[in-house]
Amino acid sequence: MALTHLNALTSPLDDRQLHALQTALKELSPTQIAWVSGYLAGVSRDAVPTAAAPTPAGTISLFYGSQTGNAKAVAERLGERLLGQELDVQVRSMGDFGPRRLTKERLVLFLVSTHGEGEPPDSARALHAFIHDPRAPRLEQLSYAVLGLGNSSYEHFCRTAVEFDRRLAELGARRILPVQCCDLDYAADSERWSADVLERLAQLAPARPSKLATLA
Ligand SMILES: Cc1cc2nc3c(=O)[nH]c(=O)nc-3n(C[C@H](O)[C@H](O)[C@H](O)COP(=O)(O)O)c2cc1C
Repeated sequence: MALTHLNALTSPLDDRQLHALQTALKELSPTQIAWVSGYLAGVSRDAVPTAAAPTPAGTISLFYGSQTGNAKAVAERLGERLLGQELDVQVRSMGDFGPRRLTKERLVLFLVSTHGEGEPPDSARALHAFIHDPRAPRLEQLSYAVLGLGNSSYEHFCRTAVEFDRRLAELGARRILPVQCCDLDYAADSERWSADVLERLAQLAPARPSKLATLA
């Protein structure tokens, strides 16, 4: 239905809200409206409790895909911080487990860089391919957030992280934070994202006995 045909009787919004919405949208291009529409779909899904709502009382997995060590370092630092919150944490390279394992995970933080011409780092290739396969399994049991490391001077800035984020949502996983793309000076943004993760997890989970396993 065209927005101009909406009124307070045919939508759940009142006149004041409709007017505000119409005013905001008037300024946007069709591309921007398409983006906002996707964004609102995500907000809406997060706002509605579902049977598959996350229960991050179990292990929190930090899966990193890193070629030159930056994403790995951020993952390990965040792992230590989560450990400090008495959460049950595992930090692993994406290359160290079979992609099918994702179907068993409840809460995963993905930290992944982009290399080549917008391609995943070597250790992330199998997992990236697995979720992008047309026959990929549904991942409705999974809650997740994605941190991307990249370099905005490349044409495909943080493409791998954006692809992970988008595809996981398509497969039914529940995004607990918006994807964060970090440029070369990633320290401040990754710190902020890590703080956001801690805050979000505190909302979602009761504290548990701690355990940290860092592999490779
Ligand atoms: C050969 C090469 C290609 C890269 N290609 C991209 C790219 O296409 N897009 C992007 O956003 N960043 C690109 N980067 C930047 C890296 O993602 C960035 O340096 C990141 O911090 C590396 O993290 P890592 O050490 O965890 O792999 C590239 C870096 C290198 C060395």
